[in-house]
Amino acid sequence: MKLKKTEIKNLVQFAEKLAGGAGKILKQGFNHRLQIDYKGRINPVTQYDLKSEQYITSRISKCFPKHAILAEEGHDVEEASPYRWVIDPLDGTVNYAHGFPIYSVSIALQYDGDTVAGVVYDPEREELFSAGKGLGARLNGKIIHVSSEKVLQQALLATGFAYNIGTAKHNNLGLFARMAKKAQGVRRPGSAAIDLCWLACGRLDGFWELYLHPWDTAAAILIVEEAGGRVSRINGRRYSIFAPDILASNGRIHRTMTNVLTGKSL
Ligand code: IPD
Ligand code: CA
Ligand code: CA
Repeated sequence: MKLKKTEIKNLVQFAEKLAGGAGKILKQGFNHRLQIDYKGRINPVTQYDLKSEQYITSRISKCFPKHAILAEEGHDVEEASPYRWVIDPLDGTVNYAHGFPIYSVSIALQYDGDTVAGVVYDPEREELFSAGKGLGARLNGKIIHVSSEKVLQQALLATGFAYNIGTAKHNNLGLFARMAKKAQGVRRPGSAAIDLCWLACGRLDGFWELYLHPWDTAAAILIVEEAGGRVSRINGRRYSIFAPDILASNGRIHRTMTNVLTGKSL
C-alpha cells in the first residue's frame, strides 16, 4: 500500500517541527560545557546527543504510539508497524564537541522499508532540508536540485571516515587518495547528513563513505533523490540504509565515480 501525498506532507511537517525543536536544543549546548562519554576509542557522545534524542522520540511516541523507532542513542521502540522512524539526534558529534560548526539533526520516516519523509536541520546556518516521497526536495521551503556538473575533474566531492579507521582493513584512505587525484576537490565536513544535503542543493557534486549507519543516511538519501540525484552502493548496485557503503551524486558523474572507487579507472 502507498501513502497518500497529503499524509506524507503532514508527516514531513511534523518531522520539520521536531528537527527545529531538537536543533534549538543543540544550538543551546553548542560551545557550552559538555559531558563527553565514549562509545568506542574515538566515538564520542555528549549530553546533547541524548537530550536531542529524548526530545524527538518522546514526541513521536506521544503522537504515534504504534510507530517503530530506530534511534542512534538507543531510544528504540520495537513495534510491529509499517511505520519506522530512523533518527540521528546529532550528526557530527566530533565537530560539535570541538565547537566546529558543522552538525545536524536527521529524522526519517520509513513506510514498508522505504523512506517517505526525510528532514535534516543545520542549526548553525538555520537551514532546514526536507523531502517527501514524490513531493520534491526543499531548503527552507524552496525547491532544490542537484548540480549539472558532468566532469569529475571539475567536481567538488565530500567523504568521511568511520570511527573504525584505526583498525578496519577498508578505511577509505586508499579511495580518498584515488579520488583526490581525479576530482577538483574532496572535502571531509564531518556530518554525513549535511554532506548529502549539500549534494542535493548543488554545493557538492558527489559523496561516498564506508560503514555509515541507517540513521546517518535515511533522511538525506530521500532529499538527494527528490532533488534529482542518484544513490547507490559504491559499485553502482542498489543501496539500502543497512549497506556498508554509499555513493551519491548528481547522477551525471555517477558512473565515473563508480569506476574510480572500484578501481576500473585509476
Ligand atoms: C558521523 C558523521 C561523520 C561520518 C561518520 C559518522 P556521528 O556521525 O556522520 O560525518 O564520517 O562516519 O559516524 O557519530 O557524528 O553521528
Ligand atoms: Ca551520524
Ligand atoms: Ca549521531
